[in-house]
Amino acid sequence: SPIPSPTLTQCGTAIIEGDKPVPYTCCPPIPEIKDVPYYNPPPVSRFRVRPAAHTVDDEYIAKYNEAYSRMKALPTDDPRSFMQQANIHCAYCNGAYKVGGKELQVHFSWLFFPFHRWYIYFYERILASLIDDPTFALPYWNWDNPKGMHLPDMFDVEGTSIYNERRNQKHRNGFIMDLGYAGEDVVANDLQKLVNNLTLMYRQMITNAPCPSLFFGKPYRFGSEPSPGMGTIENVPHNSIHRWVGDPRQPNEEDMGNFYSSGKDPAFFSLHANVDRMWTIWKTLGGKRKDISDPDYLDTEFFFYDEKAKPFRVRVRDCLDEKKLGYTFQPMDIPWKNFKP
Ligand code: C2O
Repeated sequence: SPIPSPTLTQCGTAIIEGDKPVPYTCCPPIPEIKDVPYYNPPPVSRFRVRPAAHTVDDEYIAKYNEAYSRMKALPTDDPRSFMQQANIHCAYCNGAYKVGGKELQVHFSWLFFPFHRWYIYFYERILASLIDDPTFALPYWNWDNPKGMHLPDMFDVEGTSIYNERRNQKHRNGFIMDLGYAGEDVVANDLQKLVNNLTLMYRQMITNAPCPSLFFGKPYRFGSEPSPGMGTIENVPHNSIHRWVGDPRQPNEEDMGNFYSSGKDPAFFSLHANVDRMWTIWKTLGGKRKDISDPDYLDTEFFFYDEKAKPFRVRVRDCLDEKKLGYTFQPMDIPWKNFKP
């Protein structure tokens, strides 16, 4: 059977790793109502178009920063506040929730894509409502295109509200990414790195992901052990980019190098906006590349607060089509598509 929405009254201590607890609680406020309603995505009148991060103008960057200042200024117990939103990731990924007596983990399985889609969906709506701009959309970090294969410049401006000092200092100022980063910088020139990245994208999206279970990850149901196995993109480049951004000076490579702290880096949501875009693109690549139809997947539920701080249960089945959720992506070339090694 499917994994139900977590029981918030049983949310406990989150663990960084081994027996190291997160030194604060990651649990959300408990809603006043007992029966948390299902979320119905509001009817779409106009799409939010998520822009590629490297293409946005100063006006967009100013708005984005303003939304973050306001989010950071909300009271800490407001479920829309910066820390409460970051803690969603901590609670769902560091063992704070239990389901069927076992730890709930939204990574390393088929829950990876839908969980993060819902997570950034509400996050985007919260930012938009804080600046009263119903068209505001998160930028996607276009790391699958050579033009986007570095930390987007807007995140690298000290003193702004989307800057974060807990990042790898070597990987700033346009340093070209290695999408397969495993803790050491490769010895290669920039052109080689870009070519390697495109080859890697071809492999993870096409060669190694011809069917749903290889792309999305293994089934994860009520009562089964967490972390049955991840899909191609979750593993590489997603996990690699987390490590590439994370700060090796911090004990657990905070913020991006650990689940509990990742949501404290605004770059996280841009990384994930592009992961989300990969889901959409993958379904256009043909063959057996379609959404999972297993009812245990479709009926899995998560809990979130929306932009009005109202609690909701959401289902995986309601997030398969991002257009129904009211957003699309600014079109961009997909150069890896023809990058057969
Ligand atoms: Cu929930 Cu990029 O991780």
